[in-house]
Amino acid sequence: MTVHDTRTPDLGADQSDAADPAPAPAPAIDPASDPALDERAPSIADRAALFGVLTGGWTAQCLYALAKLGVPDLLAAGPRPVEDLAAECGADRRALRRVLNAVTAAGLFRETAPGTFALTPVTRLLCRDATRSSRPSAIMFGEEVYQSFGAIMHTLRTGEPAFEQLYGKGFYDYLDDDPQLTAVFSAAMGNAAVPAALAGCDLSGLGTVVDVGGGDGGLLGKVLTRHPAARGILVDLPEAVEQARAKLTAAGLDQRVTVAPGSFFDPLPTGGDVYTLSRVLHNWDDEQAVAILRRVREAVPDHGRLLVFERLEGRTPDPARAAQAQLIDVLMLVMLDGRDRTEEEYRGLLDAAGFEVRSVRAAPLHSSSTESVLEATPR
Ligand SMILES: C[S@@+](CC[C@H](N)C(=O)[O-])C[C@H]1O[C@@H](n2cnc3c(N)ncnc32)[C@H](O)[C@@H]1O
Repeated sequence: MTVHDTRTPDLGADQSDAADPAPAPAPAIDPASDPALDERAPSIADRAALFGVLTGGWTAQCLYALAKLGVPDLLAAGPRPVEDLAAECGADRRALRRVLNAVTAAGLFRETAPGTFALTPVTRLLCRDATRSSRPSAIMFGEEVYQSFGAIMHTLRTGEPAFEQLYGKGFYDYLDDDPQLTAVFSAAMGNAAVPAALAGCDLSGLGTVVDVGGGDGGLLGKVLTRHPAARGILVDLPEAVEQARAKLTAAGLDQRVTVAPGSFFDPLPTGGDVYTLSRVLHNWDDEQAVAILRRVREAVPDHGRLLVFERLEGRTPDPARAAQAQLIDVLMLVMLDGRDRTEEEYRGLLDAAGFEVRSVRAAPLHSSSTESVLEATPR
């Protein structure tokens, strides 16, 4: 007797068997051997999700190229035909159309009439003059960061930053040799929100704050705006401080700020009441992080304080933000010698440099940044 598999009709079966009044029960089927029954087997949706992830880098590179060519800026005032866009940004019309088709299908642009494209709220962020524009990040991610992730195998095999293998020097040495790239990096960092945990810090009666590795001056500007009697010193690499100088001058704070070009591995300006290190230590390995902290320890007076703003490993409550934060940790891995650390690990570094941690405060929930603040005093 032919035993029919009830799920896959056997078209060649002997028809006389169909009349068999009492067919034997079908043998149990092992779900693992049959993808249609195995709930662990990938579904079409699983395949689509994976394909979306595997091709996500292509979409990102399309957006990078469009941002670099200034296409979002050309669309800032409203929809425009692809012919005009191609002529103005110097692209091949057919190639531009195909790239725009792809990002439109992904929901990132709109096609308002055949061949006429418009921004969406997401891609409006790629315009140069958008508030906290993402254009510098798109360019940075699409160039050195993209190349470094392309060489991630080197990092996985050796534990060393792929960036150094590709470019022959450390990321910050490379940046400091290239003013244009420093401008892009500083703008990208400056467009990240100032750590929201700053709002919870008691800075009443503040005299002088020294922001070490202060980038484009976003944090210092915020502190000085809130505390009109305070003064500030910003320390960063020579190329980077120029960005800060311009930004703080534009904010009308230049009379209250001293810009100090230099390295935080060298002696730091003394005379501050509060020293800040925001998103600096996670760029460095333990030895270098302690070396930076020791320079702060040498400079800070007995009554002074140090505020360290960093994301604490395992302490990002929002799962969507946590996934992004873990990717930033991999970014540190391929680009730099740094990493995100736990609260205990930061306590250890601060202790090794002669500081005592007085408090640790998390970023407010649902704020635009994930950094906590560790407040420490000289021991
Ligand atoms: C990740 S950014 C953080 C910038 C800013 N504190 C913030 O929170 O947005 C790290 C900063 O460290 C600066 N930096 C790197 N190496 C440095 C060095 N040796 N001395 C001083 N600053 C340095 C970089 O130029 C950059 O501005």
